[in-house]
Amino acid sequence: MKGPAPRQDHTLRITGGMQLAGDICVSGSKNAALPEMAASLLTTDALRLNNVPRVTDTALMGEILTGLGGRCDGDGSLLLKMARARTSRVPDELGGRMRATILLLGALLGRFGQARVPRPGGDDIGARRIEQHLRGLRQMGARIEETETEIVAEVDRLRGQRIVFDLPTVTGTENILLAAVLAEGRTEIFNAAREPHVQDLCRLLGKMGARIEGIGTERLVVDGVRDLGGAEHTVIADYLEAGTYAIAVAAAGGELRIDCSRPEDLNVVLLKLELAGAHVEAGDGWFRVGRRTRTRLKPIDMSTWAYPGFPTDLQAQYMAMMTQADGDTVISEYVHENRFQHVSQLARMGAGVTVEGRLHAVVHGPCRLHGTEVAIPDIRSGAALVIAALCAEGESVLHHAWHVDRGYENLTGKLAAVGAQITSTIVDVDPDAPSRTYE
Ligand code: EPU
Repeated sequence: MKGPAPRQDHTLRITGGMQLAGDICVSGSKNAALPEMAASLLTTDALRLNNVPRVTDTALMGEILTGLGGRCDGDGSLLLKMARARTSRVPDELGGRMRATILLLGALLGRFGQARVPRPGGDDIGARRIEQHLRGLRQMGARIEETETEIVAEVDRLRGQRIVFDLPTVTGTENILLAAVLAEGRTEIFNAAREPHVQDLCRLLGKMGARIEGIGTERLVVDGVRDLGGAEHTVIADYLEAGTYAIAVAAAGGELRIDCSRPEDLNVVLLKLELAGAHVEAGDGWFRVGRRTRTRLKPIDMSTWAYPGFPTDLQAQYMAMMTQADGDTVISEYVHENRFQHVSQLARMGAGVTVEGRLHAVVHGPCRLHGTEVAIPDIRSGAALVIAALCAEGESVLHHAWHVDRGYENLTGKLAAVGAQITSTIVDVDPDAPSRTYE
């Protein structure tokens, strides 16, 4: 999917070979904050969201909500007031910059009975289909017209339905939830996504007065209510950010205590790290990961899967880590159909990785990585290249670091504080240059 260039870009310079040591506090989850901000449309009362990560995606969602006529004030702690929202049309210049605007479809239909959102095209990590979102909303009574560029929907009153997903979709589940909470009657979602951010959205909607059962299971039952009210909610910790730093220290060596986090959301990831030879200790709201660089990592195969499986959003980072393992690791990507863009950039740094079809890649460790110039293709590939650069000999220069800012709050500052040699330099952006988007 093509989109306008970001307003600001920067380049990361990382000198590898330093071990990481110290504490990192994890920010709130981007993928929870986005649907939770969209939920503000469902009430004319104020919604207070705490622990919203200061990343470009949440800033963009704030701009979109303001453009719809609402207010979004604050920084980290947001006060959202959508009483004065008037339009149900999300403009292309904002909506087209982020795939998660599809979440506004269910919320706008619930609020106004109509919605217009830019069409989220396929992007670099796969087709990113949305037919399950649309099928569910149509079952609930929405009339939806799709063109190549937009999706336009309207409905007199949404009606609860029995909705079956043929595979669990995260934003699809969230879209149906946002539509169902104000629908007439009961909606049942079968094969619902169970990711921590989906559960967190359910908890927020519950505080607003929604009636949702089965939270955290694959069957969600929503009994529609006539009105929702305001609420205050603290966005759940970002298990993907926590997992990224856990993998980084296992790859580079050293020991990190990862605070403000939920190790229970990372069971499979932490298991893999232990099997690979890292030391893991978990407590309530924190965990610690360490590895002595004298002991080489073991190659441990990994397949991504919907939660509670190994998250696709940590696959690239895991691959970067396995370049340091002693032998071949098979990595299988079963969630997105084309998520190996990081391979060509890792290869520039000396990684030996063979991609086999669309689903499998084999990392031929141990690889001696060396610093070089690479271009970040997307947010999680960016995190993977940072990890590779931490393990590489010499200096790496990572261009297009704006991708990382979409979902990692202050990555440079957090890594520098635990011993990484990392700096960030702002670079000019050609406003006419097209850039590729977005998770
Ligand atoms: N799918 C369909 N039909 C649909 C919906 C999905 O075939 O109607 C397929 C997709 O093509 C994909 C798979 O199902 O192969 C999973 O897609 P899903 O709908 O769950 O992904 P998403 O909702 O578009 C969210 C996250 C992604 C994350 C995926 C999977 C947000 C804003 N985005 O995307 O996050 O990879 O779930 O967990 O929550 C990221 O943060 O880096 C990121 C890409």
